[in-house]
Amino acid sequence: MLSESLSPQIANATVRRLPVGIRSVLRWIARPRQTAVGSLVRRASRGRIIAGPFAGMTLHRSRFTPHYYLGFILGSHELEIRPVIEQIAARCYSTILNVGAADGYYAVGFARRLPHARVIAFEENTRIHALLARSADVNGVRAQIDIRGRCDLGNFGQELEGAQGDVLVFIDIEGGEFEVLDPEAVRGLRRIDILVESHDIVVPGCTEALIARFSPTHHIQRYRARARVVSDFPGGFLPYLPRLAPQAVVAGMDERRSGIQEWLYLTAKEPVSEPKRALEDDSRSRPLAEIAK
Ligand SMILES: C[S@@+](CC[C@H](N)C(=O)[O-])C[C@H]1O[C@@H](n2cnc3c(N)ncnc32)[C@H](O)[C@@H]1O
Repeated sequence: MLSESLSPQIANATVRRLPVGIRSVLRWIARPRQTAVGSLVRRASRGRIIAGPFAGMTLHRSRFTPHYYLGFILGSHELEIRPVIEQIAARCYSTILNVGAADGYYAVGFARRLPHARVIAFEENTRIHALLARSADVNGVRAQIDIRGRCDLGNFGQELEGAQGDVLVFIDIEGGEFEVLDPEAVRGLRRIDILVESHDIVVPGCTEALIARFSPTHHIQRYRARARVVSDFPGGFLPYLPRLAPQAVVAGMDERRSGIQEWLYLTAKEPVSEPKRALEDDSRSRPLAEIAK
């Protein structure tokens, strides 16, 4: 195969230049089981997330993050932080700054789970904005989401200053988090909550450095990425698949992480406003039926 005789980077770049139809045939030849699993899952779900914190949300496959799509649909995407997502959903944040929104899995997901919140979605790749807006539209949350471009210290500080009520920053920008999450430059960070995916592979030592920066002002919960296993596949959905093709199922959920990957959930010791909880009778603020264990 092409990918066996060339380096992975050169093979990938070469394959990306081929027409879509030929790429699809090559995928079937190179990884028939994994491609079949992807195809079955997409057909059976019809673009609706079937498990996890955003079950019920509609998400179209994007050419920017195709390798995440199965994880999105199966609800296994970043399942390590599922308890944090539930804590966030149970808390009435008024504003969520989602920095590195990509195609909107979290921006749209949080807008659905927190119908009273405003979501400011920063995404530097402006070619994704139309897709993000379409996802928000399809899920009926377009009015809650403001889409912005690249986030830097200047516009981040301004947004934070203007943000109303209880604020959460959720940031995943491939190493840029270390520059933006600077409480000396952006003083408002000391009193709001933050969920950050840290990238030590890009900025060595950044997880420990963030912990040192924020431990005087925040309580810190730490989560580490782990490899996917067959039992991460949601129970009750296409039940024959994990039995017939366990390796392909695991490969489909794989998030292709390099090195150790961590998340920190930082909750302010002295928040700007006292945390509120979701109202019992607010059905949209509770998770929809979850198929996964
Ligand atoms: C790994 S993706 C985020 C994925 C998202 N957390 C999810 O799970 O769906 C990182 C995104 O951050 C964007 N990005 C990187 N630096 C940025 C910046 N300074 N401001 C806004 N977006 C940025 C990239 O374009 C990319 O789409």
